[in-house]
Amino acid sequence: MTSIDKFARLKLDALQGASLLRVLRETEGQEQINFCSNDYLGLSQDDRVKAAAAAALDEYGAGAGSSRLVTGNHSLYGELESRIAELKGTERALVFGSGYLANLGAIAALAGTADLILADELSHACMMAGAKLSGAAMHLFRHNDAEHLRAQLEQYRAIGRNCLVLTEGVFSMDGDLAPLPDIIAAARDYDAWVLTDDAHGLGVIGQGRGSAVHWGVAPDVQVGTLSKAAGSYGGYVASSRSVIDLLINRARSLIYSTALPPSVVAASIAGIKIIASDTAICAKPLAYAQMFSAHVGLPPAQSAIVPLILGSPDSALVASQMLEREGFVVAAIRPPTVPSNTARLRLAFSAAHSSADVLRFAAVVRDRVLENRPSTQ
Ligand SMILES: Cc1ncc(COP(=O)(O)O)c(C=O)c1O
Repeated sequence: MTSIDKFARLKLDALQGASLLRVLRETEGQEQINFCSNDYLGLSQDDRVKAAAAAALDEYGAGAGSSRLVTGNHSLYGELESRIAELKGTERALVFGSGYLANLGAIAALAGTADLILADELSHACMMAGAKLSGAAMHLFRHNDAEHLRAQLEQYRAIGRNCLVLTEGVFSMDGDLAPLPDIIAAARDYDAWVLTDDAHGLGVIGQGRGSAVHWGVAPDVQVGTLSKAAGSYGGYVASSRSVIDLLINRARSLIYSTALPPSVVAASIAGIKIIASDTAICAKPLAYAQMFSAHVGLPPAQSAIVPLILGSPDSALVASQMLEREGFVVAAIRPPTVPSNTARLRLAFSAAHSSADVLRFAAVVRDRVLENRPSTQ
């Protein structure tokens, strides 16, 4: 075995021993109901979205060929960006290759080594990666604790020239909402900017317009993805004209990465059009999540995501395998995606489900997962 293979094998054996090994599984062609997808509105399978992608593929070809700053900025981008800005109520929007790239590029462009970043401790890995890349001093505040944020602003604000506060609008692994009015009020008191990642809010809360509309607030920068409720792929930043102009000049994940394929941008336009015009479809994921939480005796869901925290990686894997045998796909979520001892099933509800699916799923979860949950959880 070569030394690099030995290195990899040792790491993999350690993960296997801790029930933390991840494998890629094909999901096509199985007759199962998926309760862990982020396709909250089922738009990845929507005929209008697919037709838009097919037409753009035909007209413009398969790939964009270069970065948007070179010759990859095909005409569909302008339309998508104005539709996103309109939906979000911001002056401008800018589309990136993915939500991960949008966070990476925006955070590292807005903060540097002389600055301070304060982040909710459960912020998504790509926000943490952007914060690291920026070189700014970083501190984590307790999850959804605006008072702790305020205490940290009091303690650390003076060390940073500028200060950026990071949080998710809807937390991806817990489904709870950040208390944005309190977070923004604290930030304003200390001349700090707020960047929200609303990957799981778009299409689901605030009549589909996301967490800022839900709360009636205006974070300085709103990042999001087109790969979840919009049914397509890509990421975006919605903000003021000046911030977007700066990102066009400074966001390295935009400048040095190939533009999205035209068909993907066209699919996103179709997805965003549906989100903007069909509030009934946007209400469904939350309604199903709440129907589920009522049936299994959990607190009312706040978003399309309901966590069932089981503790050990093994218990999450066993529950996931049991549900699979019952015809439901629910991936086990294990550390480091979630903190240790909080391995879980992360359930996600979609407009593509039916009430009957949700009720059948709830009965199985109640009788086969929650009944067996250790009493300490
Ligand atoms: C909160 C959050 N932000 C960003 C992303 C990344 O978005 P994308 O899949 O478009 O890269 C995800 C998940 O994928 C997410 O859950």
